[in-house]
Amino acid sequence: MDHRLIVRAKDLTFGYRKGEKALRNVSFELNQGRYLVILGHNGSGKSTLARILTGLLPLQGGELELFGEVPTKENGASLTRRIGIVFQNPDNQFVASSVEEDIAFGLENLALPREEMVRKVREAAKMVGMEEFLNKAPENLSGGQKQRVALAGVLAMEPDLLILDEATSMLDPKGKREVYKAIDGLRQTHPSLSLISITHDVEEALHADRVIVLSDGLKAMDGTPDEIFSKKEELKRLRLYPPFVYRLSSALKKLGIDIVPEGDLERSLSPLWR
Ligand SMILES: Nc1ncnc2c1ncn2[C@@H]1O[C@H](COP(=O)(O)OP(=O)(O)OP(=O)(O)O)[C@@H](O)[C@H]1O
Ligand SMILES: [Mg+2]
Repeated sequence: MDHRLIVRAKDLTFGYRKGEKALRNVSFELNQGRYLVILGHNGSGKSTLARILTGLLPLQGGELELFGEVPTKENGASLTRRIGIVFQNPDNQFVASSVEEDIAFGLENLALPREEMVRKVREAAKMVGMEEFLNKAPENLSGGQKQRVALAGVLAMEPDLLILDEATSMLDPKGKREVYKAIDGLRQTHPSLSLISITHDVEEALHADRVIVLSDGLKAMDGTPDEIFSKKEELKRLRLYPPFVYRLSSALKKLGIDIVPEGDLERSLSPLWR
């Protein structure tokens, strides 16, 4: 169960127009409960990849398996229903006049008994720390709160795979922290949930199990956060800066001080206080 393959993508290739490729031969695998971050500059193909996984774009080239099955006309919808996606712009994701109705939107089609629906909406709101806001109008929320509501709407559907496509990129630092905190909490309470986060934020990538860097539609790097962020020159060529703790560690190295960069800055710096 622990190592169930959630996504197997092999040589995914896609072009919106003839003769142009937005994605070229991208392969990766994602196991259950794992957290994959996809980094890359603007136009590198990240959203295209997300759209192929969620069935919003057809498979043009390569092979795809979701939850151990090849999506077909018959089972495609039931496979993609197990994937929840949250997009970038919090304002484009609201459909209802209250937070509660909004979170319930996806559930409406499932024809659940009223009490069960209310319970699921409440649970989802709680997972993202928005249970106090159920009766509020979505348009009056802060950006971080809006994205947490959007996340709750997706979580209410109990997805097996959650995809965040730049879900925090329009938020201020406080909003970003709120969403990351909600996601950290979710990973603790739902260890079997698999996560793909598409982002420009290298700091977020520190928390991933694995990082893929896309560049001009190609997979340019693939490894653990430490493997990726130790390659300073390669990152620079891909127009990415290492996270703060990696930059700090190279600066300290020049002074003869060695620290091991880790996701937790305090832990990385702890040898200095000894
Ligand atoms: N609907 C579309 N029609 C035509 N070309 C598109 C479409 N969507 C994306 N593209 C092109 O495909 C390439 C990859 O775009 P994509 O949106 O996947 O990149 P991205 O990595 O998500 O970028 P960003 O960081 O800006 O979100 C780009 O060259 C883009 O211009
Ligand atoms: Mg994009």
